Amino acid sequence: MNQTKKRKLEHLDICANQNVEEGTTWLEHTKLVPDALTKLNPTQIDTSTTLLGKKLRAPLVISAITGGVEEAGKINRDLAGIAEQLGIGFGVGSQRAMIEHSETWETFYVREQAPTTLVLGNVGAVNNYSAEQILNAMQKIKADAMCMHLNVAQELAQPEGDTSFEHCLENIKAASKKLPVVAKETGCGINKQNALALKDAGVKAIDVGGRGGTSWIKVEALRKGAGYAPIEWGIPTAASILETQVGVQLIATGGIRSGIQTAKAIALGADSAGLALPVLRWYYKNGKEGVKQGLEQMILELKTTMALTGSKDIKALKNSNIVVNGPLFEWCQSRNIDVTRLGNR
Ligand SMILES: Cc1cc2nc3c(=O)[nH]c(=O)nc-3n(C[C@H](O)[C@H](O)[C@H](O)COP(=O)(O)O)c2cc1C
Repeated sequence: MNQTKKRKLEHLDICANQNVEEGTTWLEHTKLVPDALTKLNPTQIDTSTTLLGKKLRAPLVISAITGGVEEAGKINRDLAGIAEQLGIGFGVGSQRAMIEHSETWETFYVREQAPTTLVLGNVGAVNNYSAEQILNAMQKIKADAMCMHLNVAQELAQPEGDTSFEHCLENIKAASKKLPVVAKETGCGINKQNALALKDAGVKAIDVGGRGGTSWIKVEALRKGAGYAPIEWGIPTAASILETQVGVQLIATGGIRSGIQTAKAIALGADSAGLALPVLRWYYKNGKEGVKQGLEQMILELKTTMALTGSKDIKALKNSNIVVNGPLFEWCQSRNIDVTRLGNR
Protein backbone atom coordinates (compact mmCIF):
# COMPACT_ATOMS: atom_id res chain seq x y z
CA MET A 1 0.00 0.00 0.00
CA ASN A 2 1.43 3.40 -0.93
CA GLN A 3 2.03 6.22 1.56
CA THR A 4 -1.01 8.33 0.51
CA LYS A 5 -3.43 5.40 0.82
CA LYS A 6 -2.02 4.40 4.21
CA ARG A 7 -2.41 7.97 5.46
CA LYS A 8 -6.03 8.16 4.21
CA LEU A 9 -6.98 5.04 6.16
CA GLU A 10 -5.22 6.28 9.30
CA HIS A 11 -7.08 9.61 9.02
CA LEU A 12 -10.46 7.87 8.75
CA ASP A 13 -9.69 5.63 11.70
CA ILE A 14 -8.40 8.41 13.97
CA CYS A 15 -11.27 10.78 13.09
CA ALA A 16 -13.88 8.09 13.65
CA ASN A 17 -12.52 6.91 17.01
CA GLN A 18 -10.53 9.60 18.80
CA ASN A 19 -11.10 13.08 20.15
CA VAL A 20 -9.96 15.20 17.22
CA GLU A 21 -11.88 18.41 17.88
CA GLU A 22 -10.23 21.49 19.36
CA GLY A 23 -11.38 24.93 20.53
CA THR A 24 -14.83 26.32 19.77
CA THR A 25 -16.39 28.04 16.77
CA TRP A 26 -17.27 31.17 18.80
CA LEU A 27 -20.80 30.88 17.40
CA GLU A 28 -21.72 30.66 21.11
CA HIS A 29 -20.71 34.34 21.21
CA THR A 30 -23.52 35.26 18.83
CA LYS A 31 -27.22 35.52 19.66
CA LEU A 32 -29.98 35.57 17.08
CA VAL A 33 -32.65 38.07 18.10
CA PRO A 34 -35.99 36.29 18.70
CA ASP A 35 -39.15 37.58 16.98
CA ALA A 36 -42.09 37.10 19.38
CA LEU A 37 -44.50 38.26 16.68
CA THR A 38 -43.28 35.86 14.01
CA LYS A 39 -46.03 34.68 11.66
CA LEU A 40 -44.10 31.58 10.65
CA ASN A 41 -43.92 27.96 11.72
CA PRO A 42 -41.25 25.54 10.47
CA THR A 43 -43.48 24.09 7.70
CA GLN A 44 -43.70 27.53 6.11
CA ILE A 45 -39.96 28.06 5.80
CA ASP A 46 -38.10 27.92 2.48
CA THR A 47 -34.46 26.87 3.00
CA SER A 48 -33.55 26.72 -0.70
CA THR A 49 -30.54 28.61 -1.97
CA THR A 50 -28.11 28.77 -4.87
CA LEU A 51 -24.47 27.86 -4.30
CA LEU A 52 -21.90 27.97 -7.09
CA GLY A 53 -24.71 28.12 -9.61
CA LYS A 54 -26.52 25.03 -8.31
CA LYS A 55 -29.86 25.15 -6.57
CA LEU A 56 -29.86 23.46 -3.15
CA ARG A 57 -32.92 22.61 -1.05
CA ALA A 58 -30.98 23.44 2.14
CA PRO A 59 -27.82 25.51 2.66
CA LEU A 60 -25.61 22.57 3.63
CA VAL A 61 -22.61 20.81 2.14
CA ILE A 62 -21.11 17.48 3.18
CA SER A 63 -17.47 18.62 3.20
CA ALA A 64 -14.52 16.75 1.76
CA ILE A 65 -13.77 13.55 3.64
CA THR A 66 -12.18 10.87 1.53
CA GLY A 67 -11.31 9.03 -1.68
CA GLY A 68 -8.49 7.00 -3.20
CA VAL A 69 -9.03 3.64 -1.50
CA GLU A 70 -11.80 1.10 -2.06
CA GLU A 71 -13.64 1.70 1.23
CA ALA A 72 -13.47 5.44 0.53
CA GLY A 73 -15.22 4.94 -2.82
CA LYS A 74 -18.16 3.30 -1.08
CA ILE A 75 -18.32 6.07 1.55
CA ASN A 76 -18.30 8.74 -1.18
CA ARG A 77 -21.03 7.02 -3.20
CA ASP A 78 -23.24 6.46 -0.15
CA LEU A 79 -22.85 10.03 1.14
CA ALA A 80 -23.36 11.57 -2.31
CA GLY A 81 -26.61 9.61 -2.67
CA ILE A 82 -27.89 11.14 0.56
CA ALA A 83 -26.80 14.63 -0.56
CA GLU A 84 -28.84 14.12 -3.74
CA GLN A 85 -31.90 12.92 -1.78
CA LEU A 86 -31.77 15.92 0.55
CA GLY A 87 -30.79 18.44 -2.12
CA ILE A 88 -27.55 19.52 -0.43
CA GLY A 89 -23.97 19.77 -1.72
CA PHE A 90 -21.29 17.08 -1.58
CA GLY A 91 -17.50 17.34 -1.65
CA VAL A 92 -15.07 14.47 -2.35
CA GLY A 93 -11.76 14.24 -0.49
CA SER A 94 -8.40 15.22 -1.95
CA GLN A 95 -7.99 13.89 -5.50
CA ARG A 96 -4.22 13.74 -5.10
CA ALA A 97 -4.51 9.95 -5.01
CA MET A 98 -6.29 10.00 -8.36
CA ILE A 99 -3.88 12.45 -9.99
CA GLU A 100 -0.93 10.32 -8.92
CA HIS A 101 -2.60 6.90 -9.38
CA SER A 102 -5.17 7.37 -12.13
CA GLU A 103 -6.73 3.92 -11.55
CA THR A 104 -8.28 5.21 -8.30
CA TRP A 105 -10.48 7.77 -10.10
CA GLU A 106 -13.69 5.79 -9.63
CA THR A 107 -13.44 6.13 -5.83
CA PHE A 108 -14.16 9.85 -6.42
CA TYR A 109 -16.85 9.42 -9.07
CA VAL A 110 -20.28 10.03 -7.54
CA ARG A 111 -22.28 11.49 -10.43
CA GLU A 112 -24.40 8.36 -10.75
CA GLN A 113 -25.52 8.69 -7.13
CA ALA A 114 -25.72 12.50 -7.32
CA PRO A 115 -26.80 13.35 -10.87
CA THR A 116 -28.17 16.82 -10.15
CA THR A 117 -26.82 18.26 -6.91
CA LEU A 118 -23.66 20.30 -6.33
CA VAL A 119 -20.54 18.10 -6.41
CA LEU A 120 -17.17 19.60 -5.45
CA GLY A 121 -13.80 18.13 -6.38
CA ASN A 122 -10.72 18.69 -4.20
CA VAL A 123 -6.96 19.20 -4.51
CA GLY A 124 -4.32 20.78 -2.28
CA ALA A 125 -3.15 24.25 -3.31
CA VAL A 126 0.26 23.22 -1.98
CA ASN A 127 0.53 20.27 -4.36
CA ASN A 128 1.55 22.48 -7.30
CA TYR A 129 -0.66 20.77 -9.87
CA SER A 130 -1.06 22.66 -13.13
CA ALA A 131 -4.38 24.26 -14.01
CA GLU A 132 -4.80 21.58 -16.73
CA GLN A 133 -4.32 18.76 -14.21
CA ILE A 134 -6.89 20.33 -11.90
CA LEU A 135 -9.35 20.86 -14.76
CA ASN A 136 -8.91 17.22 -15.82
CA ALA A 137 -9.49 16.03 -12.24
CA MET A 138 -12.72 18.05 -12.17
CA GLN A 139 -13.95 16.89 -15.56
CA LYS A 140 -13.10 13.23 -14.96
CA ILE A 141 -15.52 13.09 -12.03
CA LYS A 142 -17.98 15.62 -13.58
CA ALA A 143 -17.72 17.93 -10.57
CA ASP A 144 -19.22 21.44 -10.68
CA ALA A 145 -16.20 23.18 -9.13
CA MET A 146 -12.88 22.37 -7.46
CA CYS A 147 -12.01 23.07 -3.85
CA MET A 148 -8.33 23.97 -3.53
CA HIS A 149 -7.52 23.35 0.09
CA LEU A 150 -5.14 25.37 2.23
CA ASN A 151 -3.70 23.47 5.20
CA VAL A 152 -0.39 25.02 6.19
CA ALA A 153 -0.61 23.97 9.85
CA GLN A 154 -1.50 20.38 8.92
CA GLU A 155 1.42 20.11 6.50
CA LEU A 156 3.74 21.37 9.26
CA ALA A 157 2.27 18.92 11.76
CA GLN A 158 2.50 16.00 9.34
CA PRO A 159 5.82 14.14 9.40
CA GLU A 160 5.74 13.69 5.60
CA GLY A 161 4.10 17.12 5.03
CA ASP A 162 4.78 19.31 2.02
CA THR A 163 6.17 22.54 3.43
CA SER A 164 6.91 24.51 0.23
CA PHE A 165 4.07 27.01 0.46
CA GLU A 166 5.34 29.71 -1.89
CA HIS A 167 3.09 28.93 -4.88
CA CYS A 168 -0.33 28.36 -3.24
CA LEU A 169 -1.88 31.67 -4.29
CA GLU A 170 -0.38 31.47 -7.80
CA ASN A 171 -1.74 27.93 -8.18
CA ILE A 172 -5.20 29.11 -7.15
CA LYS A 173 -5.00 32.05 -9.55
CA ALA A 174 -3.90 29.88 -12.49
CA ALA A 175 -6.70 27.35 -11.84
CA SER A 176 -9.31 30.10 -11.40
CA LYS A 177 -8.65 31.22 -14.98
CA LYS A 178 -9.80 27.82 -16.28
CA LEU A 179 -12.43 26.53 -13.84
CA PRO A 180 -14.59 27.52 -10.84
CA VAL A 181 -12.43 27.34 -7.71
CA VAL A 182 -13.40 27.29 -4.03
CA ALA A 183 -10.50 28.24 -1.74
CA LYS A 184 -10.94 26.03 1.32
CA GLU A 185 -9.21 26.06 4.68
CA THR A 186 -9.43 22.88 6.70
CA GLY A 187 -9.71 24.07 10.32
CA CYS A 188 -7.53 27.16 10.83
CA GLY A 189 -9.75 29.77 9.14
CA ILE A 190 -9.17 32.48 6.54
CA ASN A 191 -8.48 36.10 7.40
CA LYS A 192 -9.62 39.28 5.66
CA GLN A 193 -6.37 39.91 3.79
CA ASN A 194 -6.36 36.27 2.60
CA ALA A 195 -9.96 36.66 1.44
CA LEU A 196 -9.18 39.81 -0.53
CA ALA A 197 -6.16 38.13 -2.16
CA LEU A 198 -8.26 35.06 -3.02
CA LYS A 199 -11.03 37.22 -4.49
CA ASP A 200 -8.43 39.02 -6.56
CA ALA A 201 -7.09 35.62 -7.69
CA GLY A 202 -10.54 34.90 -9.12
CA VAL A 203 -12.03 32.29 -6.76
CA LYS A 204 -15.80 31.77 -7.00
CA ALA A 205 -16.22 30.96 -3.31
CA ILE A 206 -14.35 30.65 -0.03
CA ASP A 207 -14.88 27.85 2.49
CA VAL A 208 -13.64 29.45 5.71
CA GLY A 209 -12.78 26.08 7.34
CA GLY A 210 -12.45 27.72 10.76
CA ARG A 211 -11.33 26.50 14.18
CA GLY A 212 -13.74 24.76 16.53
CA GLY A 213 -14.27 21.42 14.81
CA THR A 214 -11.86 18.82 13.46
CA SER A 215 -8.28 19.88 14.13
CA TRP A 216 -5.80 18.46 11.64
CA ILE A 217 -3.01 19.51 13.92
CA LYS A 218 -4.51 17.21 16.55
CA VAL A 219 -5.08 14.40 14.06
CA GLU A 220 -1.46 14.53 12.93
CA ALA A 221 -0.26 14.70 16.56
CA LEU A 222 -2.28 11.53 17.24
CA ARG A 223 -0.44 9.84 14.35
CA LYS A 224 2.63 10.57 16.49
CA GLY A 225 4.76 11.83 13.67
CA ALA A 226 7.76 14.09 13.93
CA GLY A 227 6.08 17.27 12.63
CA TYR A 228 4.93 20.16 14.80
CA ALA A 229 2.28 22.88 14.82
CA PRO A 230 0.66 24.45 17.90
CA ILE A 231 -2.52 22.60 18.89
CA GLU A 232 -4.32 25.82 19.89
CA TRP A 233 -4.28 27.48 16.52
CA GLY A 234 -6.67 29.05 14.07
CA ILE A 235 -9.43 31.61 13.58
CA PRO A 236 -12.70 30.34 15.06
CA THR A 237 -15.33 29.78 12.38
CA ALA A 238 -17.58 32.68 13.48
CA ALA A 239 -14.65 35.13 13.38
CA SER A 240 -13.53 33.83 9.99
CA ILE A 241 -17.02 34.37 8.52
CA LEU A 242 -16.85 38.00 9.66
CA GLU A 243 -13.27 38.37 8.33
CA THR A 244 -14.17 37.11 4.87
CA GLN A 245 -17.04 39.42 3.87
CA VAL A 246 -15.44 40.39 0.57
CA GLY A 247 -18.27 39.70 -1.88
CA VAL A 248 -17.64 36.09 -2.91
CA GLN A 249 -19.88 33.21 -1.87
CA LEU A 250 -19.01 31.78 1.54
CA ILE A 251 -19.25 28.29 2.95
CA ALA A 252 -18.90 28.10 6.74
CA THR A 253 -17.20 24.87 7.76
CA GLY A 254 -15.40 23.95 10.98
CA GLY A 255 -17.34 22.73 14.01
CA ILE A 256 -20.83 23.20 12.56
CA ARG A 257 -22.91 20.61 14.42
CA SER A 258 -26.52 21.90 14.49
CA GLY A 259 -29.18 23.75 12.56
CA ILE A 260 -28.96 26.64 15.01
CA GLN A 261 -25.25 27.01 14.30
CA THR A 262 -26.05 26.88 10.58
CA ALA A 263 -28.60 29.69 11.02
CA LYS A 264 -26.09 31.78 12.99
CA ALA A 265 -23.37 31.25 10.36
CA ILE A 266 -25.77 32.46 7.66
CA ALA A 267 -26.94 35.46 9.69
CA LEU A 268 -23.25 36.39 10.14
CA GLY A 269 -22.76 36.37 6.36
CA ALA A 270 -22.21 32.82 5.09
CA ASP A 271 -24.20 31.43 2.15
CA SER A 272 -24.08 27.85 3.33
CA ALA A 273 -22.62 25.72 6.10
CA GLY A 274 -20.50 22.59 5.69
CA LEU A 275 -19.66 19.66 7.94
CA ALA A 276 -17.44 16.60 7.80
CA LEU A 277 -16.72 14.87 11.14
CA PRO A 278 -20.34 14.32 12.30
CA VAL A 279 -21.21 12.86 8.89
CA LEU A 280 -18.35 10.38 9.09
CA ARG A 281 -19.35 9.37 12.61
CA TRP A 282 -23.07 9.00 11.78
CA TYR A 283 -22.02 6.85 8.85
CA TYR A 284 -19.81 4.53 10.89
CA LYS A 285 -22.42 4.25 13.64
CA ASN A 286 -25.68 3.85 11.74
CA GLY A 287 -24.81 3.78 8.02
CA LYS A 288 -26.63 5.77 5.37
CA GLU A 289 -29.79 5.97 7.48
CA GLY A 290 -27.81 7.50 10.37
CA VAL A 291 -26.42 10.20 8.07
CA LYS A 292 -29.84 10.95 6.60
CA GLN A 293 -31.40 11.27 10.06
CA GLY A 294 -28.58 13.48 11.34
CA LEU A 295 -28.86 15.86 8.41
CA GLU A 296 -32.68 15.90 8.47
CA GLN A 297 -32.53 16.83 12.15
CA MET A 298 -30.18 19.73 11.30
CA ILE A 299 -32.56 20.94 8.58
CA LEU A 300 -35.49 20.79 11.03
CA GLU A 301 -33.48 22.78 13.58
CA LEU A 302 -32.60 25.32 10.89
CA LYS A 303 -36.26 25.73 9.87
CA THR A 304 -37.34 26.08 13.50
CA THR A 305 -34.67 28.69 14.18
CA MET A 306 -35.68 30.59 11.05
CA ALA A 307 -39.33 30.58 12.15
CA LEU A 308 -38.33 31.86 15.60
CA THR A 309 -36.44 34.77 14.03
CA GLY A 310 -39.26 35.54 11.56
CA SER A 311 -37.06 34.63 8.55
CA LYS A 312 -39.17 33.06 5.81
CA ASP A 313 -36.24 32.25 3.53
CA ILE A 314 -32.43 32.30 3.39
CA LYS A 315 -32.36 35.87 2.12
CA ALA A 316 -34.37 37.00 5.15
CA LEU A 317 -32.13 34.96 7.48
CA LYS A 318 -29.06 36.66 6.00
CA ASN A 319 -30.63 39.99 6.99
CA SER A 320 -31.90 38.92 10.40
CA ASN A 321 -30.61 40.51 13.59
CA ILE A 322 -27.69 38.86 15.33
CA VAL A 323 -25.76 40.20 18.30
CA VAL A 324 -22.03 39.57 18.61
CA ASN A 325 -20.54 39.50 22.11
CA GLY A 326 -17.62 38.32 24.25
CA PRO A 327 -14.28 37.42 22.66
CA LEU A 328 -15.82 37.50 19.18
CA PHE A 329 -16.80 41.13 19.69
CA GLU A 330 -13.30 41.95 20.98
CA TRP A 331 -11.73 40.16 18.03
CA CYS A 332 -13.83 42.24 15.64
CA GLN A 333 -12.95 45.47 17.45
CA SER A 334 -9.24 44.80 17.27
CA ARG A 335 -9.53 43.70 13.63
CA ASN A 336 -11.58 46.78 12.73
CA ILE A 337 -14.63 44.78 11.64
CA ASP A 338 -17.90 46.63 12.27
CA VAL A 339 -20.46 44.24 13.76
CA THR A 340 -22.77 46.78 15.41
CA ARG A 341 -25.04 46.94 12.33
CA LEU A 342 -25.65 43.15 12.51
CA GLY A 343 -27.75 43.51 15.65
CA ASN A 344 -30.03 46.17 14.29
CA ARG A 345 -30.85 45.71 10.61
C1 LIG B 1 -11.67 12.12 7.82
C2 LIG B 1 -11.59 13.49 7.21
C3 LIG B 1 -10.89 13.66 6.02
C4 LIG B 1 -10.78 14.93 5.42
N1 LIG B 1 -10.14 15.06 4.22
C5 LIG B 1 -10.12 16.26 3.59
C6 LIG B 1 -9.56 16.39 2.28
O1 LIG B 1 -9.09 15.44 1.69
N2 LIG B 1 -9.58 17.63 1.71
C7 LIG B 1 -10.09 18.73 2.35
O2 LIG B 1 -10.12 19.82 1.78
N3 LIG B 1 -10.63 18.62 3.59
C8 LIG B 1 -10.65 17.42 4.20
N4 LIG B 1 -11.23 17.31 5.46
C9 LIG B 1 -11.63 18.54 6.15
C10 LIG B 1 -13.13 18.79 6.11
O3 LIG B 1 -13.59 18.92 4.79
C11 LIG B 1 -13.53 20.02 6.94
O4 LIG B 1 -13.02 21.19 6.33
C12 LIG B 1 -13.00 19.97 8.37
O5 LIG B 1 -13.01 18.66 8.86
C13 LIG B 1 -13.79 20.87 9.30
O6 LIG B 1 -15.14 20.46 9.40
P1 LIG B 1 -15.72 19.57 10.64
O7 LIG B 1 -15.33 20.28 11.89
O8 LIG B 1 -17.18 19.53 10.40
O9 LIG B 1 -15.08 18.22 10.52
C14 LIG B 1 -11.37 16.06 6.06
C15 LIG B 1 -12.08 15.88 7.25
C16 LIG B 1 -12.21 14.63 7.83
C17 LIG B 1 -12.97 14.48 9.12
